[in-house]
Amino acid sequence: MTWTHKHLLGLEGLSRDELTFLLDTAERFHEVLDRPIPFVPALRGKTILNMFYEPSTRTSMSFAMAGKRLSADMVGFSKLTSAVQKGENLLDTVRTIESMRVDGVVIRHSCPGSAKFIADRIDAFVVNAGDGAHEHPTQGLLDLFAARKRVGSFEGKRLVIVGDITHGRVARSAIIGFAAMGAKVTICGPPTLIPRDLGKAFPYIEIDHDFDRASKDADMVMMLRIQLERQHTGLFPSIREYRRLYCLTAQRLKKLKPDVVVMHPGPMNRGVEIEPAVADGANSVILAQVRAGVAVRMAILYILAGGELER
Ligand code: CP
Repeated sequence: MTWTHKHLLGLEGLSRDELTFLLDTAERFHEVLDRPIPFVPALRGKTILNMFYEPSTRTSMSFAMAGKRLSADMVGFSKLTSAVQKGENLLDTVRTIESMRVDGVVIRHSCPGSAKFIADRIDAFVVNAGDGAHEHPTQGLLDLFAARKRVGSFEGKRLVIVGDITHGRVARSAIIGFAAMGAKVTICGPPTLIPRDLGKAFPYIEIDHDFDRASKDADMVMMLRIQLERQHTGLFPSIREYRRLYCLTAQRLKKLKPDVVVMHPGPMNRGVEIEPAVADGANSVILAQVRAGVAVRMAILYILAGGELER
């Protein structure tokens, strides 16, 4: 197939063929990571800017690693040590850096639409590494990649996403990506953490506030981080209550399908949304997700930096 997108701003609008192509390309790079010398010269001479306006461990490090594994020059940018502290705005910052000849920009920002805002104004390709509560497309891709290794085809498989959907860009990208690949998606959590119009935005999903009922026949469960900083805003009564209703405990896991795939994008609140024994157990692909993140990000940087490539 011929890849036609200049940027990766979200999974919205990508076809099943395009998602499959991205996952298959990531598969090739996943093998590269197993080599004694896990480098390929694919992006030699390319310069990619890794701009993080919000904290990140997994995404920022795996983009940096992905670029290095492809032999690109990766330039890091942190809001805390930049002229942003002197009041420079986002567009001026990106234009300043682009004038130094940058081929691509990876950006995480708290503002929904920030990646598109930049993409509309610069020549370099842009990858959205998480824009507010909007999308986190490479997270969605790595979730698909790690789950596909366990379930094979997604057709007719059930994914349950549990937790804070209102503040979670991970959930939006997962809904779009898994549904496009043929999975049935159920959203689960307290009503206060699920946007009222979610069913309108995604008419093909199911919403269920009862975790035990929602997850009974699930093939995959994705536990999302409860943002503890929101506990005082009245969105859920207490950590203890949340844990009682929605934590994936070892006891709950026993009631699910024996081969259910357990995912979490990280960072985790161990003992709140997921029990340590489950996070570290045989059903969990949490570390496989992290590893997949490097391969998926290698694939997307390679495809976007390489331009239109015949496959
Ligand atoms: N999953 C995820 O985006 O993690 P980071 O915030 O550490 O990048």
